[in-house]
Amino acid sequence: RRPKKRTKIIEMMEELQKENVYIKDAERVEKLLCQLIQDGKSKLQIITDFDMTLSRFSINGKRCATCHNVLENSSLVPESKKQVLDELRDTYYPIEINAKMTIEEKIPFMMEWWTKAQSTIVACNFRREDLTRAVRESNAMLRDGCDWQFSTLHEHKVPMLIFSAGIGDILEEIIKQHSQMYANMRVVSNYMDFNHDGMLVGFKGDLVHTYNKNEGALRNSDYFTTLKDRRNIILMGDSMGDLRMADGVPNMQHILKIGFLNDNIEERLEKYKEAYDIVLVSDSTMDVPNAILKKIL
Ligand code: C5P
Ligand code: MG
Repeated sequence: RRPKKRTKIIEMMEELQKENVYIKDAERVEKLLCQLIQDGKSKLQIITDFDMTLSRFSINGKRCATCHNVLENSSLVPESKKQVLDELRDTYYPIEINAKMTIEEKIPFMMEWWTKAQSTIVACNFRREDLTRAVRESNAMLRDGCDWQFSTLHEHKVPMLIFSAGIGDILEEIIKQHSQMYANMRVVSNYMDFNHDGMLVGFKGDLVHTYNKNEGALRNSDYFTTLKDRRNIILMGDSMGDLRMADGVPNMQHILKIGFLNDNIEERLEKYKEAYDIVLVSDSTMDVPNAILKKIL
């Protein structure tokens, strides 16, 4: 008799056979998939990053806008401020994606980047009603397959936490323009603070940057407590900081981590393969997560 195949589900899924899909420990992933499928949708919740995870990294070789970029590139920002914001990005983004620095080393730089960018944006006199236009004029877009994923998760009543170091108001507007905000979605992000005249005066609450999502997760433990029977998690992210979005989930049983590796690929691939169960390199679609969801739902 032939030995029983130990990676049968993986081998049956053609989406997982593509060249840009990396699975370091196939037997572990096989077991995880098997558990998630067995336990079904009533035990499942999704925790996902937004920028460059739900949203697309590039199109035809050109970078797509992050939430911050939507504002930074808007016609309402004067040239002098644009220059400041560009310089900030040129200084800090290479640090964000640096493969050699530790998260601890990066944190002070991220604090600086977010704080400086936020105060520059606030100085631009944005109004609440400008956001719709800024998003429409930007090239921010969702990955192919997000729309299907959102409506399907809603239909099957699977909760989705969108945990973003971007800007809450902008990401909601991007989702509205390209898909729909559904009742099963909950967003934790940096929300803008408008005064009674609708003028942007600051940002609300504690700052979320790429590498402090663990703290944010713990602050949101109430949300996770209401979902305490949903012990299985699919986590999606594009940064090493996203791996800690599920910190504080009580009674977690199984977690499948799917990582999108979009940039600085050679340098970071090994680390991503260690940290994420499935790594998708330069993938502009939700094909893999959606194929897995189809099996579970
Ligand atoms: O949603 P997510 O947590 O991915 O949002 C954070 C992203 O926003 C970071 O990956 C960072 O590169 C980007 N960012 C930006 N401009 C800023 C601050 C952050 O494009 N001023
Ligand atoms: Mg991201």
